[in-house]
Amino acid sequence: MKPFKKYLLLFLLLLSTFSVYNFMIYTSKPDYGNIHLSEKAICGENLWLKNNCNSCHQLYGLGGYLGPDLTNVYAHRNEDYLKAMLNSGVKAMPKFNFNPTEKEALVQFFKEVNQTGFYPNIESELETDGWVSIKRKE
Ligand code: HEC
Repeated sequence: MKPFKKYLLLFLLLLSTFSVYNFMIYTSKPDYGNIHLSEKAICGENLWLKNNCNSCHQLYGLGGYLGPDLTNVYAHRNEDYLKAMLNSGVKAMPKFNFNPTEKEALVQFFKEVNQTGFYPNIESELETDGWVSIKRKE
């Protein structure tokens, strides 16, 4: 076989493998565990967005870095602590004036975000095909 033909064949082989792999990635539906936020948690999420909490805090490591990651704050702190934190402010954490309903909504948001997984994800496993699988804590 002429070298040109050989390279063309190799190129076509790589191109078709690449196309099939991409097709598989973009058409497979990942299992997110069927997560939906409740109405109350969505109110909390809206407060989270409106007050730009993400400029200082992170969820799943994404956000600003002045304050701590709050993905699993619900697992580490009790509800009274969280509510108190919101309206008292400490050091660089501003003092907000949320009413009791708003505080409940934000705590509910933290509670449901906490149920979606954990960060940092120390129990993840890198599979041979490059995907990361999560061993969920029950
Ligand atoms: C200007 C930056 C900033 C903004 C904006 C901000 N925070 Fe914070 N937050 C901090 C910092 C810094 C801390 C850590 C305070 C400390 O313990 O010293 C903190 C701590 C917290 C904690 C306690 C975490 C823990 O484990 O003790 C909660 C809960 C929290 N913030 C929620 C919020 C929410 C909700 C919003 C938006 C309504 C918000 N923060 C907006 C900076 C910010």
